[in-house]
Order: sequence, then C-alpha cells, then structure tokens
Amino acid sequence: MISRRDFTRTATALGISGTVPSLLRAQTSALQARIKLDTDRRIGEIDPKLYGNFAEHLGRCIEGGLFEEGSPLADSHGYRKDVMQAIKDLDVTFLRWPGGNFSSNYNWKDGIGPRDQRPARLEMAWGTIESNRFGTHEFLDYTEALGIEPYVCANLGTGSWTDAQQWVEYCNTPSGTAMAKLRQQNGREKPWGVKYWGLGNEMDGPWQMGHRTAEDYGKFALEAAKLMKWTDPSVKLIAAGSSNFGANIDWVAWNREVLAYLKDHIEYLSLHTYVGNAANDYYDFLSISNQLDDRIKTAAGTIRAALGGARPEKPIYIAFDEYNVWYRARGNSQRGRRILEEHYNLEDALVIATMLNTFVNNADTVKIANMAQIVNVIAPIFTNEKGMFLQTIFHPLQLFTKNTRGAALETWMDCPSYESKRFGKTAYLDVSSAINGKTLTVNVVNRHLDKDIEIDLQLEDATFAATVEVALVTGPDIKAENDFGKTTVQTVKSSVKANGARLRHRVPPHSYTMLKAVLG
Ligand code: AHR
Repeated sequence: MISRRDFTRTATALGISGTVPSLLRAQTSALQARIKLDTDRRIGEIDPKLYGNFAEHLGRCIEGGLFEEGSPLADSHGYRKDVMQAIKDLDVTFLRWPGGNFSSNYNWKDGIGPRDQRPARLEMAWGTIESNRFGTHEFLDYTEALGIEPYVCANLGTGSWTDAQQWVEYCNTPSGTAMAKLRQQNGREKPWGVKYWGLGNEMDGPWQMGHRTAEDYGKFALEAAKLMKWTDPSVKLIAAGSSNFGANIDWVAWNREVLAYLKDHIEYLSLHTYVGNAANDYYDFLSISNQLDDRIKTAAGTIRAALGGARPEKPIYIAFDEYNVWYRARGNSQRGRRILEEHYNLEDALVIATMLNTFVNNADTVKIANMAQIVNVIAPIFTNEKGMFLQTIFHPLQLFTKNTRGAALETWMDCPSYESKRFGKTAYLDVSSAINGKTLTVNVVNRHLDKDIEIDLQLEDATFAATVEVALVTGPDIKAENDFGKTTVQTVKSSVKANGARLRHRVPPHSYTMLKAVLG
C-alpha cells in the first residue's frame, strides 16, 4: 500500500496537485487541458521544404534501398518500385544527396557516363567501396520522376572550388560550355536546374574528411559560393552550421564565425541534431524537443545578430537538413554495408512528432528540414531483397507532410506538466497548429505514459463547419515496433463532432493525434 506522503510526492512530481481523495480520482480519470487558437495569430508560412528527407551513399540507403539493379522489384533504371511508391505515399517534398559525410570526399565526375565504365572507389566515411553506379543522372532523374525538389551537397572537404563550380555548370548550364556538352553527351539534353546547393557537410566535426576551423571553412566556402553563384545566380546556398554540440564545443561561435564570412552569399544556415534514449528514460527522452527549440532560437538569434537588421529583404533561414532519432546503430562498429539500420519504436515516433511540432512552431525561421534519412539507414522505410515495411516514424512524418501546410499558428495552452531530468519543465501535451485556407490542423502529442488527456479546444475567431477528422498514431506500449509482416504502430483514422467554436476530445496516453477541420 502506498503511503499518503509518497503518493502526494509522486503526484506533485507528475504535476498533479490537490487533496488525497481528488488525487485518487485523478489517477483513474483523464488530465484536463485547454487550447485556444486564433487564426489571425500567425507565426509564419510553413515552407513545403520542411518535409524533406535525405539519401546518402551509406550502407543500404541507395544500394539495396532505393536502387537495386537486377532485383525483380526494380524498374529498368534500377530504382526499387516498392520504395518509390512508399516515397510517393510519404509525399517527400525535398531530397538531399549524396551525403552527409560521404559528400566530403565525393568526386561527382566518377558518377557520370556509362555505368560500367565508372570507377569503384574506396569510401572512407563509412568503410566500404563506392561503385558509382548511382550518380548525378540517377539522382536527378529520380527526383524529377517523383516531382521532388533536389538538394545537392557539394564536396567542400577534399573537393576544390572548381569541382563545386563545374558541378553547378553540369547540372544547370543550358548549353555551349564543356560541362553542358558533357551532360548532353551523357544523355541529358536540358539542364535539371538544381536550385539548392550545400556548401559542404558538418565541417565543424573532426569526423569530417576535410574538417576545418570556422575561419578556414568560412574563407574556403566563400570562394566556392562566389563561383557557384556566378555560374547560376538563381542557386540557393546552404552553409554548414552547427552539427557538433559536444561538451566544451562553442557551437554558437562556429555559427557566428561562418556567418561573418558567408552572410552575403548564403540563403540558409544548416543545423543537424540526432537524439536518443540511451538512458531508457521515457519522460526525459520525450522532453528533448525543448533542446531542439532552444538550438533553433539560439541560431536564429545568431543570424539576426550577424545581419544586424540590415537586410530584411534577403533573410537567412535555418535549414535543419539532418534530424532524427539515432543512438542504437552508432559508433565505431558501424562500418560496411549493413549499418545505421536503426529499428524504431513508438516512443521514437512520438519524439519525431514533437520535433516536427517544433519546426512548425518555428516556421518563421526554419524553412528546410530533412529527416535523415529515407531508406534503411536511420529511415522511415526499411527493405530487404523481398519487400519492405514502414517504420513507426513514417506515420507522424506522413501526417505532417500531407496535412500541416499553410501558415503556422500560435498555440495557447494550459496543461499539467512534469520536470524532466535534462530538459526542464515540460507540458504533457506538445502541440502545433496550422491554417491552410479554411482548413485547420492541430497536432497533439500526449507525452503522458498512462493517462488520457481531455482537451478543450476553443477557436477565438471561427467555428468548426463540419465533422473533425482524427488521425491517431499509438500502440500497445512505447517500445512497440513494426517489422516485415508486422504492423503494430500505424495511423488509425476516425472522426469527432465539434460544437460551434468548441471541440472536446480525449487523447490516449503515449500517442500522437492529428485533428483536421474545415472552419466556418
Ligand atoms: O546521417 C548519418 C550521418 O550523420 C551523416 O553522414 C552525417 O552528416 C551525420 O553525422
């Protein structure tokens, strides 16, 4: 039997206050939360590129993932048809390639021309051999076929300014130059017109081939940027901001220094974050989006300071071009072909929903986000030679990309909270919302492990016109996983009736719910 004192202490730790009889009632009943929304209170436009992914020459992401020549599941180009369908179902808007760490020693000229004549190279980032059978044409034809905006990351590690410049020329110059002619000889008459280019990857990390100090990187990237823009003035450039948040790393100083060199030449500053639950502490893990929000706001402040209010017409946005849960398939053993094959569970999917909420809630400064990655390697889609399955994290990402569009709204909320070990006070609910024409979308994560939360959602300036669509992602427990032939975590759809400007809806424990309604 739990003592009155212990019970009160536990209840206080969970953010529940009151007398013992009322606490006993609260134990069995739902927690209460209020949300208020006003469709005029807008944070900013949600850029469709917030729902991007990433395909690196790493493990089985490309070879054995989206590209598998000779497989009965592949088309005549070698693209896996089942994976293409899953990528279409996910509505991927924006795809980054070819790395990642791989890009920092990639010679793009190895990956063009007749496939059988391309050189196999030692791949040092991930300890394998790169066949080069999937290169610029294979990637850009793939994104074109799927209607996805491509994003190419140039080699600013071991590569030269000329390599980066000529890659832009090869992809974007219509005709009349050596690189345009080479592209045409290789079977592509018209340029692809690649708009988004990365100025290297994670140049702040000692693990990076060609890692530099912020000053050396800033100077080097500046010259590459000039040549790339003079080749095609319409390109948008993304500088390598912080990815190294290790102890004793002054990551803010990295961004400040990089911006000092590059601010007149870039449109985006990139940030990367991977999160995990190595301590197996559910509540702490579920609070990690507090840290993500803090990093975004800090970087946005650094950008503002660098621009000094001088240039409102040419802002620099944040490109969160690598994010995900990644902590199991990690470390020195991860070299070779079957690597970074993280198997996701429900708590990971909930954390992804909170990360997406955070991007939407910072939609005025974060204009690009790429879940790393797309297939097999820390990915929402997982294949073997015979088929594929959708990991738990596929489902929240799909609901966001298909529904949370338009303008992000400010969300007012009154909800009980808990104190997490590393990330401070955290409300049990994590919410974002968006208005797209007359359609309102509200994303709600219930972090509580075992309690429902009854939401009283009130619209300040509108009414609900019809039945509200409900999409729920949850599972029997937080460690539930999907696998080949086993779908435990998926999206379940239903509907609920609203009453004028009010909607009451109860969300189950450890769940993500999307509410979608047409407003009157
Ligand atoms: O996505 C896996 C790796 O994580 C990428 O190659 C690198 O950029 C990051 O460290």
